[in-house]
Amino acid sequence: MNYRRLFSSDVPSFMRSPVREIFRKVDLSAICSFAGGYPAAVTFPVEDLKTLPGRVLEKYGTKALQYGATQGVPELREAIAARYGVPVSQVQVTTSSQQGIDVCTRILCDPGDVILTTEPTYLGALQSFKAYRADVRPISSYRQPEKGVLRIDAPEPKPHYKFIYVIPDFNNPSGETMTLEERKEIVALARELDIVILEDSPYRELRYSGEDVPTIRELAPERTLHLGSFSKIFAPGFRLGWIIGPEELLEQIYVCKQALDLCPPVFDQYLAAEFLTSGALDANLVKTKAEYRRRRDLMVSLLEKYMPEGVKWTYPEGGMFLFLTLPESIDTIEMYDEALSKGVAYVAGSFFFLDGSHRNTMRLNFSFIAEEKMEPGLKLLGGIVAGRLNR
Ligand SMILES: Cc1ncc(COP(=O)(O)O)c(C=O)c1O
Repeated sequence: MNYRRLFSSDVPSFMRSPVREIFRKVDLSAICSFAGGYPAAVTFPVEDLKTLPGRVLEKYGTKALQYGATQGVPELREAIAARYGVPVSQVQVTTSSQQGIDVCTRILCDPGDVILTTEPTYLGALQSFKAYRADVRPISSYRQPEKGVLRIDAPEPKPHYKFIYVIPDFNNPSGETMTLEERKEIVALARELDIVILEDSPYRELRYSGEDVPTIRELAPERTLHLGSFSKIFAPGFRLGWIIGPEELLEQIYVCKQALDLCPPVFDQYLAAEFLTSGALDANLVKTKAEYRRRRDLMVSLLEKYMPEGVKWTYPEGGMFLFLTLPESIDTIEMYDEALSKGVAYVAGSFFFLDGSHRNTMRLNFSFIAEEKMEPGLKLLGGIVAGRLNR
């Protein structure tokens, strides 16, 4: 049967994740892989989870196994609202923050509408934006029209701006954090265009050094949809996240989510609510941050030891990633096969740029790789880079 003739006109816009393609082709567990973005399994609260389900069943009975409210179960919404100091009415629970990105795009974007984003940016967000056939542009194309596709005074067609997408805290892939000034600039631009800001913040609670910077939502609550996630502070397998935002926008998301999944997973939500309100989440977070801080510091010291001169990297104050910029002569896509054949994997940085530029960059993850593989992996990578520079 020819299935293709039945596919919707959206299907050609779907974009495969290059990161997941890497996973499909290679057994990354057999090599030193800095490619994925998974949390370390040791951060999962396995001991708590041996008793948590029983406690949930005792406390909530069969309610925990029933369908639940589309906005999320009240106990979890209240716990999230209390943690972040917002009214419960401004909290929508989502089936992961990836769904948060998708549902926000779905309610805001028609094909051809413009989304502005900082770069490098999160691939999963680009996948959602493309699926809705949005016109995704770098913010710089607005501020410096001569460098991009857009002129503000362009007669026709007038771009239909919908939102600005940003990852202000410990960006995936760059690991960088936006300063207060940079956040204020985003808010000023959103106010100038009178559009919404999608603040994607799954790593915010994973800070290892430096000081918290106010969220964009705190600076502009009237126009920010702030996305949070339990994936990095509990476990990604539960697929739970949340959106904090203006009630009118949440109302539309609520209706949209009815068609998507009726409600987020109810049992998982009760587990998360118990985990949070009992204090176990904060206790686990202390251990998680200590683990990741150590891994970050180890990676930075190993890069200093093994990378040849001319290689630069970001210093992440939190999150799970670090971004390398190599000398211009090196193309990390082209270098990838050599790296794999020698036993080390990374993600080429150009995947995170809208125009595929920055081919001399790469993303390295420090949360997932077995710690004992970090040194051999970075030694290998440093050797490959050095070999290319000496050619
Ligand atoms: C910036 C960013 N947003 C969203 C997500 C998706 O997280 P979740 O597991 O909550 O869907 C990720 C996952 O890596 C991410 O890096």
